Formats: sequence, C-alpha cells, structure tokens
Amino acid sequence: NKVVLAYSGGLDTSVILKWLQDTYDCEVVTFTADLGQGEELEPARKKAEAAGVKEIFIDDVREEFVRDYVFPMFRANALYEGVYLLGTSIARPLIAKKQIEIAIAVGADAVSHGATGKGNDQVRFELGYYGLKPDIKVISPWREWDLTSRSKLISYAEANGIAVPSHKRGEPPFSMDANLLHISYEGNALEDPWVEAREDMFTRSVSPEQAPDQATYLNIEFEQGDPVALDGVSLTGANLLAALNKVAGDNGIGRVDIVESRFVGMKSRGVYETPGGTVLMTARRAMESLTLDRGEMHLKDELSPRYAELVYNGFWFSPERQALQAAVDHTQAFVTGVVRVKLYKGNVIVVGRKSPYSLYDEKIASFEDDGGLYDQKDAAGFIKLQALRLRTLGVNRSSFKIN
Ligand code: ARG
Ligand code: SIN
Repeated sequence: NKVVLAYSGGLDTSVILKWLQDTYDCEVVTFTADLGQGEELEPARKKAEAAGVKEIFIDDVREEFVRDYVFPMFRANALYEGVYLLGTSIARPLIAKKQIEIAIAVGADAVSHGATGKGNDQVRFELGYYGLKPDIKVISPWREWDLTSRSKLISYAEANGIAVPSHKRGEPPFSMDANLLHISYEGNALEDPWVEAREDMFTRSVSPEQAPDQATYLNIEFEQGDPVALDGVSLTGANLLAALNKVAGDNGIGRVDIVESRFVGMKSRGVYETPGGTVLMTARRAMESLTLDRGEMHLKDELSPRYAELVYNGFWFSPERQALQAAVDHTQAFVTGVVRVKLYKGNVIVVGRKSPYSLYDEKIASFEDDGGLYDQKDAAGFIKLQALRLRTLGVNRSSFKIN
C-alpha cells in the first residue's frame, strides 16, 4: 500500500516521511507544491530520492491557486474576524485536492500531512480529503507518534540520518507558512500577545517607518471582479499578485498582528504579511462601490463573514460554500473598471475609480439641475412615511423616550 504525503522537504515532513515508511511499512509518494512560497523545490526532490521515494510529484500550482482559490475568495471580500485575509486557510484545500488526484493516479489508499493536532490546518486538509474521496485513509503523524517535543523530533532525525539545519537545533523562532498570498508567523516568541514582534521577523514588507517618503500611485484594472492589469499592463493572476506584493511590501503595507479564534476552540496569536492582498481588498471594494447596486452590495456584506468562516474552518469543498460562491459571482458581472490607489507608509488610499458600468450619476448626485430624475419634493413624503413608526411610538408610548 501507498500513502501520498504533502511534503515540503523541511525537517518536519522529512521526519514524517521516514516515520511513515517505518511505522506503516508502506511506500511513500511525495507531493510538493509551488504555491509561490519563494523556496527552491529541487532540494525537496533530492531529499525524497535520498529517502528512497520512487514517485515524486512537484507541481507549480501558482496560477491555479490564484485563479481558482484566491480570486474567488476575494470576490466575496472574505475577512476572518474582520482582519485575517485567510492566506493559509485558502491554500489547504488546493493541496488536499492535488494529494487526492495523485492518490487516485498512483493507486494509493492513504494520504498524510504535517499539520499538528492542535490547529486549523489538520481540519482543512482532512475535510478536503474526505470531501473529495470519502473512503480515503488519513494518517496524521502529529496525532499518532510519540515525538511530542522538538528535541525528540531532532533526535529521531539524527538517529535516521535526516539532515537537521543548524538553526533548527535550538527552538525554531516561529511556525511559518508561506504562499503567494501571505506569510504567517505563530508560536514561540509570539506566544505572549502583549509582546510586539521583532522587526527582523518580517520578510515581505518594510516597516511603515522605513517606507519611502514619496507615495506610489497605482492603477488596478478589474474585469468581472478580478484584477487583470496593473498600470495598463495585463498580467496573469499569479504575476499580478506577485507584482502587487512587491510594490505594497515596499510601502510597508499588509502587516496584521491578531489574536484569532481557532476552529478547534483555542485563541491563538498570529502575525501575517499580506501586502498585495491588502491592496487588492481595498481596491476591489472601491470598484464594487461604483458598480454594485446597494441591495446586492449590502447582501454581500452580510454573507462575507459567513463565507470567511467557512474558508477558515476548512469547508471549501462544501455545498454551502459553493452556494455562497454562486451568489457572490452573480454580483460580479459588472465589477469592471479601474481603481487608482495611493500607497504610502503602510496605507492604501483610494483616490479614483471609473467604470463603463458605473452606477454613479453625476447629474443625479449634483446639486445642480438634474433634469427631473430626482424631485426634491418626493423626499418630503419619503421621510414622512419613514417617520410614521417613530411618531406613532412617540404619541402612544409615554415610556418611549430617547435617553
Ligand atoms: N492561524 C492561521 C490559520 O489558521 C495560520 C496557520 C499557519 N499554519 C502553519 N502551519 N504554520 O490560517
Ligand atoms: C498547525 O497546527 O500545524 C499550524 C497551526 C494551525 O493549523 O492552526
């Protein structure tokens, strides 16, 4: 029997690879995804070969990640607990899907991952696996083995000839996860939520203090809700997000430091850098403000937190996420146009927007003569009927007093 392991080539998944071979006496197939984490993947191939792996899959999934996961999520304006852009959450279903595809292709009956037993990622991977292949076997080493500490893990690695990078011998500074959308830092030096993160932890943005004194202007072009060009240059989704990350990071944009509610019940402190995503969120909302009807926009705003929670909790491949997606996508048909933003010392400031489908009518909005589209006299009856309830209360309930 065979097991498909989500394998990064790092210390933890290298130990898992060896442990699976020994414990389950099985053939391990490795899957390594290029999600834009910014790491060389060839070393993972070498390490897997050295560990005796015969079937090694290394896939560049960056475009698929952005097109089929990141952009659909952005159309929903999803933010978990008002601040987290879901950078890790949204990558897990794609990794799970690829593992299942590989399992089917190579005839494996099990899949495995390196998430701990205390977090969200285990849930996201496994809901993905079961959602896509109900009879799959799941092996979660962190919930099974007795390597309960860092030092036990390192001893196991050394006893089995797995290279341990020297900086991993002490406590590793942070638990990190990276892809094109974000990088996360959790644990260790961040565990006290009162203690500020050290500046040298950050890798994708300068601090706002270090950002240039000159603002950077940027035109972002949208088609049906998705960004398609920067400053007039058409780009693929992954290239566009990479370019946004660069310019936003250079301007100190996209850091958040939060305490979040994990699905498994605990609070945890996380620090994230999502430079391009932060610009995109703000610019997209500006595009929607011009092109969405009030009713559909406000309905979307009610659905967004639900959508975000589904993604956070790992229910990407669920009928309710699909239903919300269909509703959200339906609203995006006219979210087309250009938004102009100013990036300055950690801020994204919208300074202009235009669209062939704009609902903004200067004639109606202006105080000049609008040619009869809006009759100010109509407002009198409108307000009077809106006030009817309030007046009725005032007359009939002596207890109804404001303050
Ligand atoms: N807390 C964030 C989330 O649940 C980030 C998780 C990071 N995962 C990791 N394996 N380092 O989405
Ligand atoms: C992990 O547990 O592997 C990382 C943290 C999380 O998934 O929430």
